[in-house]
Amino acid sequence: MCGICCVASLSVQHTIGRVFKEDLLCNLRRRGPDCSQQQIKTISDLSYQCLFSGHVLHLRGLMTPQPLTDINNNVFLWNGEVFNGIHVGLVENDTQVMFHHLSSCSNESDILSLFSLVRGPWSFIYYQASKHYLWFGRDYFGRRSLLWQFNNDLDRALCLSSVSALSESDNQWQEVPASGIYRVDLKACAISQSLVLTLYPWKYHTKENAIEETFLSGRDQISKELPSYVSLTMNDSKLSLITPVVPLNRTVPETSVDTHCPNITNSTVTVDDLHGFLAEEHKKKLVHQLIDVLSEAVKRRVLYLFRDADQHTGEILSKPTKKAHIAVLFSGGIDSMLIAALADRHIPLEEPIDLLNVAFMIKEQTKQSNQKKNLELHSCQECFKKLDTTPVDNLTCFNVPDRITGRAGLKELETINPSRTWNFVEINVTLEELKRMRQQHISYLVYPLDTVLDDSIGCAVWFASRGEGFITTQGDLKPYKSSAKIVLTGIGADEQLAGYSRHRVCFKKYGLEGLNKELGMELGRISSRNLGRDDRIIGDHGKEARFPFLDEDVVSFLNSLPVSEKADLTLPRGIGEKLLLRLAAKEVGLKASTVLPKRAMQFGSRIAKMEKSNEKASDKCSRLQSV
Ligand SMILES: *[C@@H]1O[C@H](CO)[C@@H](O)[C@H](O)[C@H]1NC(C)=O
Ligand SMILES: *[C@@H]1O[C@H](CO)[C@@H](O)[C@H](O)[C@H]1NC(C)=O
Ligand SMILES: *[C@@H]1O[C@H](CO)[C@@H](O)[C@H](O)[C@H]1NC(C)=O
Ligand SMILES: *[C@@H]1O[C@H](CO)[C@@H](O)[C@H](O)[C@H]1NC(C)=O
Ligand SMILES: *[C@@H]1O[C@H](CO)[C@@H](O)[C@H](O)[C@H]1NC(C)=O
Ligand SMILES: *[C@@H]1O[C@H](CO)[C@@H](O)[C@H](O)[C@H]1NC(C)=O
Ligand SMILES: *[C@@H]1O[C@H](CO)[C@@H](O)[C@H](O)[C@H]1NC(C)=O
Repeated sequence: MCGICCVASLSVQHTIGRVFKEDLLCNLRRRGPDCSQQQIKTISDLSYQCLFSGHVLHLRGLMTPQPLTDINNNVFLWNGEVFNGIHVGLVENDTQVMFHHLSSCSNESDILSLFSLVRGPWSFIYYQASKHYLWFGRDYFGRRSLLWQFNNDLDRALCLSSVSALSESDNQWQEVPASGIYRVDLKACAISQSLVLTLYPWKYHTKENAIEETFLSGRDQISKELPSYVSLTMNDSKLSLITPVVPLNRTVPETSVDTHCPNITNSTVTVDDLHGFLAEEHKKKLVHQLIDVLSEAVKRRVLYLFRDADQHTGEILSKPTKKAHIAVLFSGGIDSMLIAALADRHIPLEEPIDLLNVAFMIKEQTKQSNQKKNLELHSCQECFKKLDTTPVDNLTCFNVPDRITGRAGLKELETINPSRTWNFVEINVTLEELKRMRQQHISYLVYPLDTVLDDSIGCAVWFASRGEGFITTQGDLKPYKSSAKIVLTGIGADEQLAGYSRHRVCFKKYGLEGLNKELGMELGRISSRNLGRDDRIIGDHGKEARFPFLDEDVVSFLNSLPVSEKADLTLPRGIGEKLLLRLAAKEVGLKASTVLPKRAMQFGSRIAKMEKSNEKASDKCSRLQSV
C-alpha cells in the first residue's frame, strides 16, 4: 500500500541526500502513487537530523497525506490497515486515528498497549519529539515490508524504508525482523555517536495470565545479523507487546484417531470422499466455525475500501459497466477458490471480481494451431490425471497447470454465482518480458531476499498482481487491465493446515509432535520467508495485498485446534493435507477443486521450467544479482 521511509543521521553536517537518492524515491512512489511528501527535521543543538518521506495509496476514508505532524513536532508514517481492535469510524482515516492515539501516549507501556490492540497488517515509523525517540516496527506476522540499513561512514545513519534501491554502496539492506517494535534514542545516540536499538518483543499472554516468550523473540539471532557498530538491547523492565493470536495447540491425541470415515486407499480422490467426514457432528461444527471466521476475515478485506469513486464523476452510467475493486491471485487451487467463493458473498453483486491467473511460456511459440483439441477440461480430476502423465511439450504454450485448473475453477465459481461477472484474467508472460521486468523492477523488490525460489515466486506474483492480460467476453479474447487496488492472496493456508509435501515427510519421520514443531516454526518465519517480499512485489503496482488466512481471528481459531483436526496425513494427497479447509470448501459449494493436491506456484505457472530447470530452490539466484 503505502511507501514509507526515514533516514536518521547522527550528524547534521552531511546531507541526508547521500542516502536518500532519486531511485529510492521512485521506488517508494510506485507504492504510493496518490500523494508524496518529504519532511526534514533538524535538531542541530543535539546534532541529529531526520528525513521522513511518505507516499500514500489512497484506499479508505479521506485522503491523508504523510508524513503526519502535530503541534508537538511528532511525526508519523503508517503503512497499515486497522481492520479491528481500534475504533476507526467510517469516514475516518486510520493513519490519523493511530497518530492521535500515539501522541496521547505518555509512556512506553502506553505505546506498547496501543500496538498490541491493532488487528490488521502494519509497519510504521514514529518520531516522538519530546523524548527524541524514533519508534518503528512491523506487525506480528510481518505482513508489511520494512527494511533497515546502517551507515557507518562519514556520519552514522539508520535508514528505514518499505522498499530499497539496489545501490552500489556496501551497506546492505535487511528486513527489519518482525520480532517486536524498536526504539532508538536519537539524543543519546548522537551524544555517544553509536547506534543502540531497544527491542520490545512480542509475548504471549495466556489465559492464566502468565506471559510466555514467543518463538521468535530471539535477541541473539537479530544481533548476529547486525553490523558490529549497532547494538540491540531489551528494556530491563520487561516491557513487551502482547501477541494478537493464541499460541499453537500442541495436543496430540493419545489413541490413534479413530475414523468413522471411509477408508480411502483409492488414489483417485473425489469430492464424495469428503462426504463421510461431514457426517460427524463434531467435525461439521469445526468446519462451520472455520467458514464463519474466514468469511468474516474476507469481508473485512473486501469492504474496507473507498468504493464511491464512480459516483463522484457525477455521471449516472446507464449500463452498469462497473469496474472491479477486488482481485484474487487465482490458480484454481483450493486456497484461492475458497477465497474467491467467500469474497463473492460480500462484494456488491454488480461489481465484477478479477481472477488473476499467470502462466509462463515454456518454449518459443511453436506455431501449431489447436488441431489437438487441447486440454480444455471441465473436471479437475480428469485434468490432473492428464497433467501428471502429459509431457510438458504436449501442453500448448501457455496452457500450464494453473491455467487449466484456473479455467476449471472459474466454471465452479460461475455455477455458485451465475449472476456475478467473473473476469478470468489470463496473464501470459514470455521469456523476453520476464527478463526485462526482472531487470527493471523485480530484482530490487525481491531484494534483500535472493534465492531461486524468491526469484520464481517474486516474478510470478509480480506479473499476476499487475493484472494485465486478456479476458474472454462473448467468446473473444480482449486485452484487459485489472483496476482492482486490493489483491487477495491465499498465503498462510499451507503453513497452518499442513499443505506442503514437506509436511508429509515430516509427519512420516517425526509424527504429530514433529509436525506441530514444523508448523509452529513455519508460521514464525513467514514474515522473513514470504510476506515482506510479497508486500514489496504487490505494492509496486500501487496495489495492496491482503491475506485472509493471516487474519488474527483465523489464526487464533486454527491455532486453538490440535493439528489432528486440521489435517490427516495418513490420507492420500488431495485430501489429507488441509483436510479441514477442503471440508469447508465443500460446504461452501465447491466441487472438484476441493480435492486438488497442492501445486506450488513456481511449478503451476511453469516459471520454474522457463530458464534453468536444474537449480535448487534454495540456491542463490544469479539472475537476480546480474543487475
Ligand atoms: C483524516 O481523518 C481525520 C479524522 O477523521 C480527519 O479529521 C481529517 O480531516 C482526515 N485528513 C484529511 C487530510 O482528510
Ligand atoms: C503510563 O501512563 C498511563 C497514563 O497514560 C498510566 O496509567 C500508567 O500507569 C503508566 N505506566 C507506567 C508503567 O508508567
Ligand atoms: C525501560 O523502561 C522504563 C519504563 O518506561 C524506563 O524508565 C527506562 O528508562 C527504560 N530503560 C532503558 C534501559 O531503556
Ligand atoms: C477408484 O475409484 C474409481 C472412481 O470411484 C473407480 O472407478 C476405481 O475402480 C477405483 N479403483 C480402485 C483400485 O478401487
Ligand atoms: C504427447 O504428444 C506425443 C507426440 O505428439 C503423442 O504421441 C502422445 O500421445 C501425447 N501424449 C498425451 C498424453 O497426449
Ligand atoms: C494466452 O494463453 C492462452 C493459453 O492458456 C491462449 O489461449 C491465449 O490465446 C493466449 N493469449 C494471448 C494474447 O497470447
Ligand atoms: C487443545 O485442543 C484440545 C483438544 O481439542 C482441547 O481440549 C484443548 O482445550 C485445546 N487447548 C487450547 C489451549 O486451546
